Amino acid sequence: MPDPQITLSRLAAMKAEGEKIACLTCYDAAFTRVVEKAGVEVILVGDSLGNVLQGHSGTIPVSVVDMAYHAACVDRVRDQALLLVDMPFLSYADLGRAIASAAQLMQDGGAQMLKLEGGAAQLDTVLRLTDQGVPVCGHLGLLPQSVYKDGGYRVHGREAEDAEAILRDALALQNAGAGMLVLECVPVELARRVTQELVIPVIGIGAGPACDGQVLVLHDLLGITPFERKAPRFVKNFLSDGGIEAAVRAYVEAVKSGAFPAAEHCFN
Ligand code: KIV
Repeated sequence: MPDPQITLSRLAAMKAEGEKIACLTCYDAAFTRVVEKAGVEVILVGDSLGNVLQGHSGTIPVSVVDMAYHAACVDRVRDQALLLVDMPFLSYADLGRAIASAAQLMQDGGAQMLKLEGGAAQLDTVLRLTDQGVPVCGHLGLLPQSVYKDGGYRVHGREAEDAEAILRDALALQNAGAGMLVLECVPVELARRVTQELVIPVIGIGAGPACDGQVLVLHDLLGITPFERKAPRFVKNFLSDGGIEAAVRAYVEAVKSGAFPAAEHCFN
């Protein structure tokens, strides 16, 4: 029997039972198979695809069309993982755009839940979307779509006032109907407080171990980010022995030496 679909109520039950939720970004069909087989419960088609697939230095250039395209690639082969998709920069800047973007991401992309960045400023949008039957995931702390406004990639919520604002925004998003929250780059204690105060699952990235689950960018986890940059502190490379790069290097060497293809790879 195939594994049952991961639903929002299943994720809520996992929080209640203390079972951690594994979330990972993924943007194409081949990796969808891999991450589902590995047991990932939530696939995030993140606008981080602007960085890791498109080679931009951030997420600002990513469009709704890009997001719907990659979401559909994942959805075509997806079995049971919940498909969470980012609403890209300015695609929810007003209610009309938010509804139109949500329609495209759910109808063309197959999204089952949409993630948008920000707190107080997004409450009307979250209310409106959820009223229309769109499941919404909030995103607080470091907001990659606001890095120019916020002064770059840094930890948020270290100052007491900032921490209180994040907690307040988290509760307000939940009250507005958000069904999940991503918390990025905040101190461990703040993440613990938010996770304890909220009934909805809180997924952390750079937010410590107390969150109900964790998310990473797939390419960071594999150590194949297309930039010569120091990985953020919260990234762990789970591939050992050079991983994918070593495999490609071995292929090149085998072609050059004539060791590949061998008899078992040939037809008679
Ligand atoms: O776009 C993305 O990959 C994200 C994660 C960093 C949470 O939003």
